[in-house]
Amino acid sequence: MASQEDAFKALVSHCKEYGFVFPSSEIYGGLAAVYDYGQNGVELKNNIKKYWWDSMTLLHQNIVGIDAAIFMEPTTWKASGHVDAFNDPLIDNRDSKKRYRADVLIEDQLAKYDDKINKECEKAAKKFGDAFDKEQFISTNARVKEYAEKRDALHERFAKALNDNNLDELKQIILDEEIVCPISGTRNWTDVKQFNLMFKTQIGASADNTMDIYLRPETCQGIFTNFLNVQKTGRMKIPFGIAQIGKAFRNEIVARQFIFRMREFEQMEMQFFCKPGTEMEWFKHWKNFRLKWHKALGLGDQKYRYHDHDKLAHYANAATDIEFEMPFGFKEVEGIHSRTNWDLSRHGQFSGKKLEYFDPEENKSYIPYVIETSIGVDRMFLSVLAGSYKEEQLEGGDKRVVLNLPPALAPIKCAVLPLLKKDGLPEKAQAIMNELKFDFRCAYEEKDTIGKRYRRQDAIGTPFCITVDHQTLEDNTVTVRYRDTMAQERISVDAIHSKISEAVSMRNLYKKMMQD
Ligand code: GAP
Repeated sequence: MASQEDAFKALVSHCKEYGFVFPSSEIYGGLAAVYDYGQNGVELKNNIKKYWWDSMTLLHQNIVGIDAAIFMEPTTWKASGHVDAFNDPLIDNRDSKKRYRADVLIEDQLAKYDDKINKECEKAAKKFGDAFDKEQFISTNARVKEYAEKRDALHERFAKALNDNNLDELKQIILDEEIVCPISGTRNWTDVKQFNLMFKTQIGASADNTMDIYLRPETCQGIFTNFLNVQKTGRMKIPFGIAQIGKAFRNEIVARQFIFRMREFEQMEMQFFCKPGTEMEWFKHWKNFRLKWHKALGLGDQKYRYHDHDKLAHYANAATDIEFEMPFGFKEVEGIHSRTNWDLSRHGQFSGKKLEYFDPEENKSYIPYVIETSIGVDRMFLSVLAGSYKEEQLEGGDKRVVLNLPPALAPIKCAVLPLLKKDGLPEKAQAIMNELKFDFRCAYEEKDTIGKRYRRQDAIGTPFCITVDHQTLEDNTVTVRYRDTMAQERISVDAIHSKISEAVSMRNLYKKMMQD
């Protein structure tokens, strides 16, 4: 079996080979942690965005969207706390000259204890077979207990250091845990220092008329600054939400793991404004709803888990992540935060404008509380690809690489393939395609054997291949070949549209997510 690292490398090269993701400005050697989306990538990305946008603004009558500018008046970032507190704790290894996030080094160490526990469990499960009771084993096996105690103690110490913003303690933990630099293998660490992640640039044409501004590090501040505009012009009644999709920028120091951590990325954020005192109820609601949104895609319920935050951001009174099992372990894809009334209060203070809501039922004004759901488009993209990528061994020794993408997200829904490049088959195939193209993104291919063409479509996740042969000219039927099972079926040309439509509709996903 391929190691996790090999599996991830295979996924990254697949993304490039099949037009999903390219390194940015690659002909000049690329730019670290910046990527471009190719012809298939952009379609998948747009489908993800549509899945999110409609799940917010179509399914909820009390959620509307906006599209705010990337540049904002710089006081925004003073008010939001980003100028003073949007920092990462960094540490350098003097021998390799490599820079790391101190918190990430410690999180990796925590994950190592979990790996050790899992390995012991796997060994015992093999040894005891059906009689194996995991819970009992974990609570009684001396070695596992020791690992768990060490992990819990480290976890507690780490959480305290983060909460106290104690940089010396973070360094001490790294030393006490004997964490080494993965490059040099040494423990020759510098002190831990804070580093602000915002990109700065200047706006204005002449030297004496310029102003320092930031590229927004999160999209939601444009929602807060437009709170009154939307509430008043949309006559919105609390509770209501404002959704937005857009670019965000962070000068990430530890840029690794492909599109997982980028310097330019996209966020899909929704701020839900509610009555003070109801925020925990809404926090629970959105936590639940967002997990359903992920699970409805069918990538496997076991691939998701919640992770409650040890250190709450400066604005939050509760926060949880939805993590997905990436090829490099469970990682955050989405954050759900109860942000209190912090942002609106601060923007009120800094702007001098009253960012309040008059509640007709209560007959009084208050600053609403906010629940935020914030998901990275690129991380979502990576999780969808990681959950769909399969290398399958076929009967007869053949191998195929297939993306079992949720059909609603697949870049191309259907490939129309004439069996031969003659006898009127291409013309018939084109005619079928010309009917389908109004509703579905289709591909037409006539080069190479039909087997090779199927494989190419498998590799980009096309759920249906329609093959046109001589029989088609006689009885107006085609062979439909299903990506996941590779099964084939003869159907009438008139039945193609409804078959595809049923399978690729987002409606089915929404219905699944609205159940119970
Ligand atoms: N407004 C809240 C906020 O921005 P966050 O946890 O910093 O919260 C939210 O970011 C989401 O944005 C993350 O869960 C992740 O999916 C995505 N994200 C954050 N930084 C990223 C980066 N450098 N590259 C790609 N995605 C990122």
